[in-house]
Amino acid sequence: MNPSPPTRLDAQLAPYYQIIDRELERLEFKPGIPLFYDPIRYFLTIPGKRIRPLLVLLAAEALGREAEQARFAAVAVELLHNFTLVHDDIMDNDDTRRGQETVHKKWDIPTAILAGDGLMGFAFQQLLRTTSTDRAALAERFTETMIVICEGQGQDKMFETEQQVTETAYLDMIARKTAVLLQLSCEMGAMIAGASGEEIEWFKTYGYALGMGFQIQDDLLDTMGETAAIGKIAGSDLSMHKQTILTIKLQPHLGGRILWDLSLKEYRTLLRENGILQEVEELVQGYFNSAYDQLAKLSDGKAKSLLLRLTELIQQRNL
Ligand code: IPE
Ligand code: IPE
Ligand code: MG
Ligand code: MG
Ligand code: MG
Repeated sequence: MNPSPPTRLDAQLAPYYQIIDRELERLEFKPGIPLFYDPIRYFLTIPGKRIRPLLVLLAAEALGREAEQARFAAVAVELLHNFTLVHDDIMDNDDTRRGQETVHKKWDIPTAILAGDGLMGFAFQQLLRTTSTDRAALAERFTETMIVICEGQGQDKMFETEQQVTETAYLDMIARKTAVLLQLSCEMGAMIAGASGEEIEWFKTYGYALGMGFQIQDDLLDTMGETAAIGKIAGSDLSMHKQTILTIKLQPHLGGRILWDLSLKEYRTLLRENGILQEVEELVQGYFNSAYDQLAKLSDGKAKSLLLRLTELIQQRNL
């Protein structure tokens, strides 16, 4: 088993990581039902990058609220994210996540389904502890987003057996399964800050662009990254017949070869030789440029510079 990849993106973000870790450690895991609580504790203590809760805290702070005020919403999005990961690993038949065994591998599928269910429950429980904002409005957006993520995950699975997936359909799928959660993170931070409708829209646009760039990068890393660095098995998407921007753009260059018969090495070579890597990197750059354009509209200050830093770190990530 590989050691967990380093996940703290930057020392400057340490105080925000502390808030997130502290709240996660405060979750109450009752004794007596280890089948339910042990896998949840296991998964939450393997550190992830915590991108989504950082966005909640920094968005709130950028709009003049103390990050602490957004702590429950921050932990809620992280818990929701972790729920989707535990179930995603079952759906994608992945044995490794964050450099460690996935929950269904270490235990079994029924236990991992239950762990995901529990994480979702804890997510709502934490969200509803927010007192400074209209909780019904937060819960409404949170629930809507959760349903959209499930839609995206449904499309992702459907596309495994579809041959003619278009770029537009792929972009729609990743918007649902990934971008909406980064968008929600920014939106909830802004809502908790009591921001105007216009400011909330700015943040939503930023989170959406960041999320799109982030998922396309994830698809690139799955194919081009190293297992030890990404903490997940490289080439998983190819072995699961996942339709990504890479497969869609390569399809016309295959000349009769069956994509799913290619080895990872052959697939990588074809992506390079046909200029697809470069095209996709430019697409990612475009989304990050939109994210930076949005940030440029914020007033200068500590939270803005941390959001810029976080955006750069996400853009440069190799895990
Ligand atoms: C993984 O998200 C799932 C995707 C949407 C690609 P992250 O890469 O943010 O996962 P962790 O939380 O850091 O492990
Ligand atoms: C993840 O997409 C989307 C969600 C978990 C909702 P992926 O399946 O590409 O994520 P990884 O690569 O397993 O982290
Ligand atoms: Mg997956
Ligand atoms: Mg998946
Ligand atoms: Mg992936």
